[in-house]
Amino acid sequence: MPKQHVIFGRPVPRISSRRISLLLAAISIFAIFSLIISLPSAIPTGPSLSKFTDHKFSIPKLKGSSKWPKVFNPFKPPAHPPARQKNDTDGESSWYSNWRWLSIPFSSTITLDEGRSLLPDLQERPPIYCYYDTTVQKDAASKNAESALLLTWRRAWWYHGFRPVILSAAEAMNNPLYEELQRMEMESSLKTDLMTWLAWENMGGGLLSNYLVLPMSKYDDPLLTFLRRGEYPSLTRFRGLDNGLFVGPKNEIASAIKLAMQSHEIKAAGDIISVLPVEKEGDPFTIDNTPESLAFYNAKALERRFTKLGDLITKDRAAGLRSLNKLINAHLHTTWQNTFPDGIAVLKPVPKHTTKMIEPAWDLANRLAQCNDSPAPSTCPPNQERCVPCVSANVKLYTPAFYRNNTSIYTIGTVPHPYTFQTLAHMKESLDVPWVRRKSERDAWIIAVTRDILGDGMAGGPRLLKFKEAVAGPVTHTHSLWVEAERGIPEDIVDWHFGFAVPQLGEGLDSGRSETPVPGPERRPQPEHDKADGPIADPEELKREPALLEKARAMGRSKDKRDVAIRNAVEAWNLADTEAWRFARAFLARSQVERTKWEEEEAKYAEGVGSDKGHAKSKWGRWLDRGSK
Ligand SMILES: *[C@@H]1O[C@H](CO)[C@@H](O)[C@H](O)[C@H]1NC(C)=O
Ligand SMILES: *[C@@H]1O[C@H](CO)[C@@H](O)[C@H](O)[C@H]1NC(C)=O
Ligand SMILES: *[C@@H]1O[C@H](CO)[C@@H](O)[C@H](O)[C@H]1NC(C)=O
Repeated sequence: MPKQHVIFGRPVPRISSRRISLLLAAISIFAIFSLIISLPSAIPTGPSLSKFTDHKFSIPKLKGSSKWPKVFNPFKPPAHPPARQKNDTDGESSWYSNWRWLSIPFSSTITLDEGRSLLPDLQERPPIYCYYDTTVQKDAASKNAESALLLTWRRAWWYHGFRPVILSAAEAMNNPLYEELQRMEMESSLKTDLMTWLAWENMGGGLLSNYLVLPMSKYDDPLLTFLRRGEYPSLTRFRGLDNGLFVGPKNEIASAIKLAMQSHEIKAAGDIISVLPVEKEGDPFTIDNTPESLAFYNAKALERRFTKLGDLITKDRAAGLRSLNKLINAHLHTTWQNTFPDGIAVLKPVPKHTTKMIEPAWDLANRLAQCNDSPAPSTCPPNQERCVPCVSANVKLYTPAFYRNNTSIYTIGTVPHPYTFQTLAHMKESLDVPWVRRKSERDAWIIAVTRDILGDGMAGGPRLLKFKEAVAGPVTHTHSLWVEAERGIPEDIVDWHFGFAVPQLGEGLDSGRSETPVPGPERRPQPEHDKADGPIADPEELKREPALLEKARAMGRSKDKRDVAIRNAVEAWNLADTEAWRFARAFLARSQVERTKWEEEEAKYAEGVGSDKGHAKSKWGRWLDRGSK
């Protein structure tokens, strides 16, 4: 018989095992409940090690939490992270685009996810159309040359914030007027013009450009800014640009097409302008002043400024167009250099120890400072009577320790993970938590980089906002490029980021000493030392930099628990540096995703169009990017 228990002299009733389990269940429910109540539930996310930190911005505040402390409301559901957006990840980066990006320093306040960066809304790109006639028989060499020109055209307009689209007869055929046009008799050049307009109208109007019209000016030029807005109230052409660029809404394009097709002069006319009542009663166009920001490489311009090239095109079309493409590319490069007359700054905080870290950025700066190969070196684009031609531009290169807010300087920033930066700055093989907490300088990178604009003694939050503005501001994003130190510069972004084919090291001509090639990568020029940029590396220490950088990179890839823990600790200790690193990485990744998605879209329509067989098979169809320089 089981023993009878006695408490305070009374026998305790025997409890069956079923009752015991009920009792245990009740106790555990109570325990869990009290645990929930006592948890710091006001911190749903955010810096995982925020107990280390005294950052003003590190603890996300939830609205409404002040009146009713969370302890009284354990059942309040946690705030949901914002809904995922389309195509919002790339590799390890993910992002959330929202207009509040410049009012909140730490992304996780809104995204509730430390790995997800808060980026500005993606700027809408208005389409710009160009018609490419595929019905004309051409030899492969000419087609390739035209493809290369189309690529140059697309890249330049993409750089200026547009979405270039190549139209073909397929779009014209969708237009109800197509049948009627086929039955009419006219010159083939006028027919091509009308096909172009039918295709354009079918796309809903907007911008229609000849592929020899290129934007050659700074990004925030007033006309380009207006065109980027994507609202075009009336059908407009530009003085001095002939049929180079038209702008207009769909309905006015439709009326102009009808007007043209009813014209009595349709049999004799050679182009759409001469068949419309231009500068007469009933002119469908508004005429705008000659745009200073657009260059048109038509026969007239070539005859006036580049006679030899014009002759070459008449003699050997393919060779001439290849040469023209080089000329245009070189002019785009010159225009870019002229936009930044004070040169290129390659950021080098802690200059004694970051020579290796900034090497990819330094190489890129050297490539940009060269002159592109050109059939007419030291010439200016047709829209600029005066410019500083490349050969005499002598682009200045600097390696300042901080970012300068100056629109006449282009900045290439290398953004390190705080682990990488601390390793290099202190030349330490590995970091440990006690060292990080006691010895390391917190957020050293962003403090160094923003020292010029914000001075010392400012917290991480305001620094971050300034940094983000520099990286991703609506215009300032064209004044700088920020890359991840651990990965270097992805080669496929370079040409699209600058809007022209950037020569490789040693491929271009040295802009300072005209027409001497710059040394190749093996004899890479080192920056001339400016005392203002801080001390230079000690040769012995310089030798150790590559290994340290490699170690830090490996640390970033490591899945080992202890490595992850120390990385997390470094991130929590350097919240602003980590945020800056993630932000720059996500911003660049998003621009890459935007472009590759667009190319995939466009490639669908490009397949086989104007391509020789080799190109048609390739992934990108006709305007093959890689290796077409
Ligand atoms: C996102 O990607 C999908 C395919 O991966 C594509 O269909 C879609 O259009 C993309 N969205 C945007 C906004 O680019
Ligand atoms: C930019 O820097 C140049 C010299 O490097 C200077 O002459 C110019 O005044 C600066 N511009 C601004 C707006 O600070
Ligand atoms: C740069 O200066 C302009 C005004 O001179 C200011 O509006 C802007 O916020 C500054 N940008 C940065 C990143 O400091």
